[in-house]
This record gives sequence, structure tokens and C-alpha cells, in this order.
Amino acid sequence: MNAPRRRKPVVAIDGPAGAGKSTVTRKVAERLGYLIVDTGALYRVVALAAERAGVSAEDETRVTALADALVAENAVQLRRGADGASQVLLRGQDVSLSIRAQGVGQGASKVSAFPGVRDALLDLQRAQGREGGVVLEGRDIGTVVFPDAEAKFYLTASVDVRAQRRRDELAARGTPPTLAEVLSEVTERDRRDSTRPVAPLRQAEDALLVDSSSLSIEQVVEQIVASVKSVERKLAPTP
Ligand code: C5P
Repeated sequence: MNAPRRRKPVVAIDGPAGAGKSTVTRKVAERLGYLIVDTGALYRVVALAAERAGVSAEDETRVTALADALVAENAVQLRRGADGASQVLLRGQDVSLSIRAQGVGQGASKVSAFPGVRDALLDLQRAQGREGGVVLEGRDIGTVVFPDAEAKFYLTASVDVRAQRRRDELAARGTPPTLAEVLSEVTERDRRDSTRPVAPLRQAEDALLVDSSSLSIEQVVEQIVASVKSVERKLAPTP
């Protein structure tokens, strides 16, 4: 991929499930006036579309064909909601809530291991970030989608902290599973995401590691914003 000359950086925030990426991404983007691209939402939409079509998330051939068709039909759209969070549309219908179901998360982790599905979604992600001034959150943004991103972060936390946060988030939506259930789901997703042969979850060599286990959201946001601002200054044309 040619490295375009951007005036504002592409910010990549990768990390495992429950590390706080969505909240941090939203706040960082707000502070910087950047757009948000939640790439996990794209894999979730594929999993949801498969579920609705009665296709098993383990059926590589059919799931890949489905992902290709969704992209060809321009059936998946990301847009910014009134609250600043990103919204996801599937064939014009807002599925932002439906894709957050636990089963869809597991499905997303399965379908995202298929190389054809990753390929289908790659250009979509690159098109969203090309101009810069955007924060992309995911698992392989700094390693695969935008290896030339000017600001990369790997956001993580201990598995216990991540499971607790995930449970709190689900409880706030009214469906609290037990901590043991969430812990096993997070562990399983971590295992699948980091051991798949294509674009596994890992820290890019030039990414800044941010361990949020004992940091507040605000402290994490502060650290990332300060780092992106220093990149912005380097990209700004000298008078
Ligand atoms: O971030 P989120 O939990 O919404 O992601 C759902 C799943 O999508 C992840 O478990 C991961 O398997 C997959 N994913 C991915 N690459 C990305 C973003 C998400 O493989 N860039």
C-alpha cells in the first residue's frame, strides 16, 4: 500500500475484548474532532447477517459468500450517531444494538478468522481511514489495515479486569450474565483472536502499549490524546 501524505494522522487502537477500546476511542475522537471507525462492528454485522440467513458462523464457504455479497451490495454502512458513537446499518436498518448480543460477538470472532471475510472487509476499512483524522479500533488495524498509521496503540488490561468491565457493560443493558460466564467468553475470544493464522491479534512493533488495568478511562484517554497531538504537530506543514 502506498503511504499517502496525510495532514492528520490515522490513529489505530487495537487490543483484546473488553480492554475499553470503544469508550476510549469515542472519547479520544471527541477530544481530537476525529471520526470513528469501529471495525469490530463490521465483523459483527457479518455474523448477524449469517445468523439471520440461517447460515452457521462455522460455514466458511457460505459466510464468505455472504460477506462478499454484503460488500458488493453496499449493504453495510457505518455512520456517526447523535451521541457521537458509531452506528451500524445493515441494508438500511440500524443494527447497532443487535450486534452487541453476546452470541453475535462469538459469531464475529468465528467469522473473522476466515481469510475471505477479512479480505471482503479490508477495502471498506481502508476507504474509511484514507484521509486521516480518524480513529480506527480493532484487532489488526496497526498490523494489517493501516500498517502505515501514524499513531498506533495497543490497549489491554488483565483478563479479570476486562471480564468485570464487560459484565458491567452488559448489566447496564439489562442482561447481566455471571462473571464466570463472561470470563470464559472473553478468554475464549482472546484465544481464537490471537491464534488464528490470518491477521491474529497482536501488538504492532511500533504501537504504544497502554495497560489500563489500574488506570481510569480519563487517564488512558489523556495519554493517547497527548501522543496523537505530538504526531499532529509533526505532520503539520512548517510555515
Ligand atoms: O471489537 P469487537 O468485540 O466488537 O469485535 C468482535 C470480533 O470481531 C472480535 O472478537 C474479533 O474476532 C473480530 N475483529 C477482528 N478484527 C478487527 C476487529 C474485530 O478480527 N479489526
